[in-house]
Amino acid sequence: MAVIPTMSSSSAGLLAGTLFLLGARVHAQQSPPAVAVVPADSVAGAPLFEAETIQLTDEVVRGLKDREGVSELAHLFAFDDDPEGESLTPAGGCKVFPGDKEWPSDSVWDIFNELLGGGESPYNNYDAEKCARILEEWTVSELHTSDPGSGMYPIYQGKTCMPSFANVSTCTQGGYSTYAVKVTNTAQIQLALNFARATNIRLVPRNTGHDYNGKSMGAGALSVWMHHLKDIEFIPDYSTEWYEGPAMKVGAGVQVFEIYEAADKHDVTAVGGVCPTVGFTGGYLAGGGHSPMMPVHGMATDQVVALEVITADGRHVTATPAYHSDLFWALNGGGGSTFGIVTSAIVKVHPKIPVTTSVINFKSSDTVSRETFWAGVRAYWDEKITYNNAQTYSYYWLRNSSGNYSFDMGPFFAPNHTIDQFTALTKPWFDKLTALGIPFTAETKYHESFLAAYDATIRNLNHGVGSFRSLPGVRLFPTSNWATEEKRTATLSAIQAVVEEFGTVGAYHQAPRNPEKIINSVNPAFRTEAAFIIGSAPAPENATAEQLQVTGERLTNEILGPWKEVAPQSEGAGSYMNEASVVEQEWQKEFWGANYERLLEVKRKWDPKEVFYAHHAVGTEGWEVRDGDVGPPTQNGRLCRVVE
Ligand SMILES: Cc1cc2nc3c(=O)[nH]c(=O)nc-3n(C[C@H](O)[C@H](O)[C@H](O)COP(=O)(O)OP(=O)(O)OC[C@H]3O[C@@H](n4cnc5c(N)ncnc54)[C@H](O)[C@@H]3O)c2cc1C
Ligand SMILES: *[C@@H]1O[C@H](CO)[C@@H](O)[C@H](O)[C@H]1NC(C)=O
Ligand SMILES: *[C@@H]1O[C@H](CO)[C@@H](O)[C@H](O)[C@H]1NC(C)=O
Ligand SMILES: *[C@@H]1O[C@H](CO)[C@@H](O)[C@H](O)[C@H]1NC(C)=O
Ligand SMILES: *[C@@H]1O[C@H](CO)[C@@H](O)[C@H](O)[C@H]1NC(C)=O
Ligand SMILES: *[C@@H]1O[C@H](CO)[C@@H](O)[C@H](O)[C@H]1NC(C)=O
Repeated sequence: MAVIPTMSSSSAGLLAGTLFLLGARVHAQQSPPAVAVVPADSVAGAPLFEAETIQLTDEVVRGLKDREGVSELAHLFAFDDDPEGESLTPAGGCKVFPGDKEWPSDSVWDIFNELLGGGESPYNNYDAEKCARILEEWTVSELHTSDPGSGMYPIYQGKTCMPSFANVSTCTQGGYSTYAVKVTNTAQIQLALNFARATNIRLVPRNTGHDYNGKSMGAGALSVWMHHLKDIEFIPDYSTEWYEGPAMKVGAGVQVFEIYEAADKHDVTAVGGVCPTVGFTGGYLAGGGHSPMMPVHGMATDQVVALEVITADGRHVTATPAYHSDLFWALNGGGGSTFGIVTSAIVKVHPKIPVTTSVINFKSSDTVSRETFWAGVRAYWDEKITYNNAQTYSYYWLRNSSGNYSFDMGPFFAPNHTIDQFTALTKPWFDKLTALGIPFTAETKYHESFLAAYDATIRNLNHGVGSFRSLPGVRLFPTSNWATEEKRTATLSAIQAVVEEFGTVGAYHQAPRNPEKIINSVNPAFRTEAAFIIGSAPAPENATAEQLQVTGERLTNEILGPWKEVAPQSEGAGSYMNEASVVEQEWQKEFWGANYERLLEVKRKWDPKEVFYAHHAVGTEGWEVRDGDVGPPTQNGRLCRVVE
């Protein structure tokens, strides 16, 4: 097994550290994997997937104590017997880092590898072909989702090995994790968790690397890579005391496009996100999950009826509204990498319904002045609540490029609407555009199903990633911001000011249909939401620490600050933890409102030793990444307890 040094001089080391491959070339003299097969029964209402039945058990751990060459290390893989015990990291202390004397030796990593199932690392070699592919596909999300350690936003890696200087010998591993376990069964997650806890190494659950704050990276970390847990099962007549109806059980690695396609095959609709490659079961469900189908069925996380989880002590538990209901509540909305590692979720799915989509564009021109353009936007703005009440959704961009303004809605998404219904709904807006003399295009189509509508529109939008030229942030604006003419005007003015100054704003009209009884910790700001609005502050190419610092300050003070003023958290607004500013102020309140206190209690109960960490995750106030103050926080440094 190859060990990747943190100082990597090859561009092939650009992405991630060492990878464990289950089943690949296990040598005869190696220790067999530490696994047992447990019964598939689960109180979740559906049996465990086969991969979930392969577990680490007390008996297996006991067996390690008698195994030659392993016995002295058996305690490193044991479950946590003392959940109330002292934290392993003392105040002011840090997680163990490569190069420290406490860092496990190569022979310990070898044994860990064997217990996982063994394998070879494809890394630690310069690979010209891979290098070329990385350069070419840097902005394609699949490059990152198929890698065990990469993240889609290199700012958080520390920009220590950017594609633009791929051949420069000063490249370091930066915020990419040191090791990654390619997970194919539950035992491997349990071994990794126990090992990280016992050795005090930073642990990073990783799925697709989609995170906007670099939460699935971490220098010196052991990463648990969930991407290959792709099981999907349709359950036509799921039945428990808390839900009866069609459902799907999906593995931790299932992505948005995969659940959409599987649901369509079974003649149902799943509630998922916009970008096809976002990890459905990972960070997306953990954070709330907004969706084109949310106006009809609620947040994606509102669909969850059961979870299989590995908790910080290394144990497998099932969390449902009836079993470990506190954990169930917290895992559904409280964020990833905080309470446990989810191995699968069971989610409600719904009968197919038709969808009408419309791609709508207009712009300023010789005949459409800046003022007229904004009057056209205002005509849409005034209809937002009507559109939300009609259970529709849209995704659009407002742009100002050197005084040329454009409105690009791609698409207006109207589930359960015929073209006639859509035309009637949008008539007041379109009539106003005509009266204003604004030429516009509206390419409207009727689709028999959600997937057909998604494939024809949202799926093919530019979901490019890999940018290191800006810092984005988001605000959820409540319906009350549309209650009076004055508020509507003030709100749009705050948006317009950002478009004028920064050039772009991305936005959704969206409002989830709320369940009668809320059984999760999704940000309450979603329950009163009317619009989801994204701003971003630009950073120069090759920005210095100071320039990035300024970018973060502009995001906070010139974009989110004015938006907070017109839509304060106290009046139902908030932010979305999954797409938030990396320097979000008062993030506890903005991400979770009144739920934060209880989330903190659940965190302390289920992760008393603080094994899990992620940037701005519940209960991480006492931790920091010491990255040398390079501007907004990155994952390129030791994770340490804050010195009081
Ligand atoms: C282009 C783009 C489009 C997006 N569109 C939408 C959208 O339409 N709707 C929406 O709601 N969000 C959207 N998002 C945000 C998305 O929800 C988050 O990026 C989310 O964190 C992605 O989760 P992941 O598991 O794919 O990512 P990762 O980066 O791999 O993980 C994110 C976080 O979850 C943790 N995690 C991952 N898997 C697990 C697990 N099995 N158990 C415990 N913790 C885990 C990680 O440790 C990390 O903290 C979008 C993001 C991008 C970049
Ligand atoms: C990097 O180096 C390799 C090997 O020398 C070479 O083939 C490749 O073209 C170089 N790439 C760039 C972007 O210069
Ligand atoms: C926005 O438009 C104004 C003119 O109306 C122009 O001066 C300004 O440069 C534009 N901003 C951007 C970011 O292009
Ligand atoms: C708009 O863009 C054109 C170039 O496409 C440019 O010549 C013009 O100055 C810009 N600004 C305005 C206000 O039209
Ligand atoms: C779709 O609309 C019909 C009426 O046109 C209604 O009966 C049905 O409940 C709607 N479906 C959903 C899922 O809202
Ligand atoms: C950024 O850095 C790269 C690599 O050193 C260099 O090629 C490029 O010209 C730089 N860009 C700017 C604007 O300085």
